Amino acid sequence: EIRGTVSVLPQELLLRVFRFLGPEDLCRCGQVCSVWAQVAKTGSLWGHLYPVRWARGDYYRGPPGESGQEPDEDWVKSLQDEGRAYQDWDEDADVDESEEASEESPAISAVQREKRLLNGMIQNLLPAVGPSVRSLSLAYSSAVSSKMVRQILSLCPNLTHLDLTQTDISDSAFDSWAEFGACRTLERLDLSGCDKITDRTLKILSLGLGDLTTSGPDHRAKLLKAPPSPINFQDECSLPPMGRSCQDLIFKRRPGGRGSGCGPAHVWVLDPSKFADIEDAADWRKRGDVSVQENGRGGSSCCCRRSRRCHDATLLCVCCRCLSQRGGLPLLLHLNLSGCLLITGAGLQELVSACPSLNIEHFYYCDNINGPHADEASGCQNLQCGFRACCRSGE
Ligand code: FES
Repeated sequence: EIRGTVSVLPQELLLRVFRFLGPEDLCRCGQVCSVWAQVAKTGSLWGHLYPVRWARGDYYRGPPGESGQEPDEDWVKSLQDEGRAYQDWDEDADVDESEEASEESPAISAVQREKRLLNGMIQNLLPAVGPSVRSLSLAYSSAVSSKMVRQILSLCPNLTHLDLTQTDISDSAFDSWAEFGACRTLERLDLSGCDKITDRTLKILSLGLGDLTTSGPDHRAKLLKAPPSPINFQDECSLPPMGRSCQDLIFKRRPGGRGSGCGPAHVWVLDPSKFADIEDAADWRKRGDVSVQENGRGGSSCCCRRSRRCHDATLLCVCCRCLSQRGGLPLLLHLNLSGCLLITGAGLQELVSACPSLNIEHFYYCDNINGPHADEASGCQNLQCGFRACCRSGE
């Protein structure tokens, strides 16, 4: 009966209630009925993903940074022990006793749970909410593979924070980024301890959108014809032309739209300080539930927070577009490549030259590589850290 009462709430109110729920409860709610399933897959509920923590019962889903900078050493060591136990079990997976071991060992079942969670996200969640995902942490995961990362990155084209610290991934994890417009929203990238990464990954990152100055005329024409952004809903929801503000938009629920049984039609006036509202409304419009109107006002800050020329957080401003037309990562501030022993100074030089916003104090790589900004960069961050790979550990 309570469920029946809650179900008649307008979807916007239901969404407000859902904002108080953690990922596990949201997944349960998504199985109640089709309306709840639709609201549970609203993009802003899934802006920050921490599958490694979620698989172990920690359901934090706030932005990165608020959860503490450096993870607890004991927690990381327990993850590494789990990874080793899982690997040993996996190698003997065809032996009957290993099946029993997986049921009995909490370490093995934690990694299995994480693997199931990652596969479930790739198949069921990210196809719906991927464009709204801003940060993803897979640090210290022993379940994630290069293929999984590749799939996730192709579904989440607007990431600003990506943490793959101490994972077993190789260059192929980034193959889905070797496409037009990929990864240009990144502000922070952690690949510390990913010792299989080579210059090939740095090359993919440094190209980003593709270098228009060195490509041939056919390739240039193809690039210029391609859509301006990897943001999926943008093409369908007629966001305003450059120079208009988020404030200019009013999203209306259509009386006859899907889910209209939940309440009367009403106008949803957006708060320009809440980008999540705008994305949700655009997402719902794509599903046929809202229409978009402009009200003719202007003025808003830009996604790169340096200009007032851009109209919303989901579209890059003029300066970002200009930079990204030359390739690279125009917004990248933080880059951690500590413990990546296969990269070279030349590869780093190429990448750094395509990252105009890089903060040298937040740029880390092996002390033994003769790379760019050698005097000002912060060097290897793993040297003092017993639980991450470093060529000088033990000195
Ligand atoms: Fe070389 Fe840490 S990886 S100094």
